[in-house]
Amino acid sequence: MAFFMVLLGVVAFLLFLCSALLRWNEVRYMKKGLPPGTMGWPIFGETTEFLKQGPNFMKNQSARYGNFFKSHILGCPTIVSMDPELNRYILMNEAKGFVPGYPQSMLDILGKCNIAAVHGSTHKYMRGALRALISATMIREQILPKIDEFMRTHVSNWDNKVINIQEKTKEMALLSSLKQIAGCDSNSISQAFMPEFFKLVTGTLSLPIDLPGTNYRHGFQARKNIVGMLRQLVEDRRAAKEVHEDMLGCLMREDDNKYKLSEEEIIDQIITLLYSGYETVSTTSMMAVKYLHDHPSVLQELRKEHFAIRESKRPEDPIEWNDIKSMPFTRAVIFETSRLATIVNGVLRKTTQDMEMNGFVIPKGWRIYVYTREINYDPYLYPDPLTFNPWRWLEDKCLESQGHFFIFGGGIRQCPGKELGIAEISTFLHYFVTRYRWEELGGDKLMKFPRVEAPNGLHIRVSAY
Ligand code: HEM
Repeated sequence: MAFFMVLLGVVAFLLFLCSALLRWNEVRYMKKGLPPGTMGWPIFGETTEFLKQGPNFMKNQSARYGNFFKSHILGCPTIVSMDPELNRYILMNEAKGFVPGYPQSMLDILGKCNIAAVHGSTHKYMRGALRALISATMIREQILPKIDEFMRTHVSNWDNKVINIQEKTKEMALLSSLKQIAGCDSNSISQAFMPEFFKLVTGTLSLPIDLPGTNYRHGFQARKNIVGMLRQLVEDRRAAKEVHEDMLGCLMREDDNKYKLSEEEIIDQIITLLYSGYETVSTTSMMAVKYLHDHPSVLQELRKEHFAIRESKRPEDPIEWNDIKSMPFTRAVIFETSRLATIVNGVLRKTTQDMEMNGFVIPKGWRIYVYTREINYDPYLYPDPLTFNPWRWLEDKCLESQGHFFIFGGGIRQCPGKELGIAEISTFLHYFVTRYRWEELGGDKLMKFPRVEAPNGLHIRVSAY
């Protein structure tokens, strides 16, 4: 009896302690003017619920508190904005005080000259330098020939093999970028680069705990190794006085170069290019393969488009800019894949001063999660939104330019690599669907949140078409 009394006492005390802690955390953030919402536990906030329930957490909170609510996720007091108009406003008004709010681990590992770490005139300059590297003219004249050469080799000898398409698209995104940036083929530098780069990526998505064995420490070490390799490459090129027709060659050009960057800036620009195009391009490519497998009529239409392009070419002729421009259905498949899989759930901003918005006051330093995922499933914009239907992008040409198309972000940070990414994925699909048919082995799990990934890979059996 006494034991049960003690047990009851302990349970009652714990319940009291929990509700006191929750209450205390609510009171701490009960500033006047903040939007409604809950803050969860001290320090941890509602991160566990957010990661466990994913999009449902957002839906439940917005059902209770509206499309603009407060929470405490991923270590920061955060405003979640699911309102399309407010999202647009935030993205368009960086100058008023909504700067990028990416986690500290990401900024530490990507470098202080990384585009997400700079604002104002520095951002304008760095963005200008980047855009000059990946402009339409550069894609047409310099980059696309490299992409074509890379893809036709990467997608060769898959006949009669079981392929982990997740692994292959990840390698593809990285190695293709390395070829564009530094002309590297699958040679020693790219082989040494790859494992370091993968550690860097994992480090940027980790908690910033600098202890032996943590992903953060590994990521940081990987950054040092990558910087070392890139610095060596720059020095070798300087010493050899060689001129190279690749992105690094353009960044290093001394004469007739509108954007003069220091060595540190050049290296961080390269890391920016590699990082920004990596997960977006690889995951979109993998999910396109998945959706095409599941929708034979779409695959048939896509093949028709690509065989028509091949018909006018010899086997060794490369894919050129005009070919990319005559792939409207492929473009639609890429958009529909990005929409339905929601490769990008949203973007992060933080306030540089107290900001008034929608009748609320967001304190200085708070993070804003510009959560754009739900727009992708809006039945008014995309009728029958859960159906994979690329034709919708052809029937309504305005879909791509409507104000709530946030697949590539918006405002002054709208993705400058959009057309390059589309060209890469289109060229990959070209060689893949014209050479092969494939079936899934089955049994692979696909996760959609917080990132789209197949935890154990996505395995397909490939045979010649
Ligand atoms: C399907 C492919 C891609 C998708 C879905 C995508 C998506 C996005 C999104 C949503 C943003 C906005 C981030 C923000 O506002 O904070 C962004 C920015 C950016 N993207 Fe992409 N991206 C893709 C491919 C690429 C590629 C291939 C490159 C470069 C080679 C690239 C380079 C960048 C850069 C440098 C930024 C930052 C721009 C700035 O801060 O001014 N992206 N991208």
